[in-house]
Amino acid sequence: TDADGTRVFDLTMQRGTTDLGHGPATETWGVNGSYLGPTVRADRGGRVRLNVSNELSVASTLHWHGMHLPAAMDGGPHQMIEPGETWSPEWTIDQAAASLWYHPHLHGATAEHVYRGIAGMFLIDDAETPELPSSYGVDDVPLIVQDKRFRDGQLDLRPGMFTEAGIIGSDILVNGTPAPFFDVTTERVRLRLLNASNARTYNFTFTEGVTFDLIATDGGLLAAPVRLSHLMLSPGERAEIVVSVPAGSSTVLRSVTQPLGLDMWTNRFSGGDDSLDILELRAGPSLTPNTAVPDELVAQRDLGEPTVTRTFSISGSNEINDQTMDMGRIDEVVEVNTTEMWEVRNGTGAPHNFHVHDVQFQILDSRDPALAGPKDTVYIPPGETVRLLMRFEHYTDPEVPYMYHCHILAHEDRGLMGQFVVI
Ligand code: C2O
Ligand code: CU
Repeated sequence: TDADGTRVFDLTMQRGTTDLGHGPATETWGVNGSYLGPTVRADRGGRVRLNVSNELSVASTLHWHGMHLPAAMDGGPHQMIEPGETWSPEWTIDQAAASLWYHPHLHGATAEHVYRGIAGMFLIDDAETPELPSSYGVDDVPLIVQDKRFRDGQLDLRPGMFTEAGIIGSDILVNGTPAPFFDVTTERVRLRLLNASNARTYNFTFTEGVTFDLIATDGGLLAAPVRLSHLMLSPGERAEIVVSVPAGSSTVLRSVTQPLGLDMWTNRFSGGDDSLDILELRAGPSLTPNTAVPDELVAQRDLGEPTVTRTFSISGSNEINDQTMDMGRIDEVVEVNTTEMWEVRNGTGAPHNFHVHDVQFQILDSRDPALAGPKDTVYIPPGETVRLLMRFEHYTDPEVPYMYHCHILAHEDRGLMGQFVVI
């Protein structure tokens, strides 16, 4: 923390080698280390400054996914950091407690930079939230879930042959660890799940019939916990769940086959038929009592009535409304302090999701309780339309845009992205 109370974080993007289960010489990238980066944590109402240094040999960016902030601080494709340079965005945290994350967002090479290992969690705390398990690493554990492929001891960067989605791997890493397990020492564990994979969607469930409480989605806590047996997360999405593992027993968090809404062939090559072990939870013989999940969590924001409706159609593997991303074109101009409805259709036969910067949206007409909380990324099956309610506040900039895009990183890189300014 510096003299005026700003919390300062130094983040250095660098190269290294990491043993990801295929030998110690695997070339990787990371932040303040050789693979992934530290968890950044800040309080609602506090001011933060991130000194982001680039010690890679290529230009990159660092984007704060899910953050409400001025566009010039967003770390998107317009805030490039050249090798050897440091970029120092700062802003005041002004949103609910949530599990956000950071990753590169340069135009055309986001998939490669994330796949090589640049990503981390960005947690927001809020004194006003109810008590929940919150001892970091003990009963409050971030899980960065990624799938990889290896070839000759190195990360395999070649895109899959039968899918346009880029890399679908069958080697799972959690926080950069292959074949991971976690020793459970408390009656309940809160898991902050982040799908930081390039293309794979997971359908999480536990073995041994263990169910869990979903307590938060992308942008923060739900109104009340929801008991679930399965939870889908597409790339970029997060969820917080609380699970109890009986003393002396173990359960495996697993991803199982899932309803992606695709034809048989596309489903197979999108990973929809796969069953993969993610993390084993091993409970000790006696567990320490800890905070139970309250029946009520937080009141949801009233976003108001929309005064503008915009329609977006994902119309090809590279296009939204028949246009590919153009860094020099502003696609949408939004007025500050208004609520809008964005109707987004997946008009293709391929899997896509949709992410909007700066806001957390509310998904209308969904019957899925896992989609009831604040969201910034949503999966859209082929042929379906989602209606997203969002409110734009505080920050205006007629020049610097925010992005909206598919978070399947190969799609984003190919231009399935658009730009909006808030004025
Ligand atoms: Cu996680 Cu525009 O990105
Ligand atoms: Cu896509």
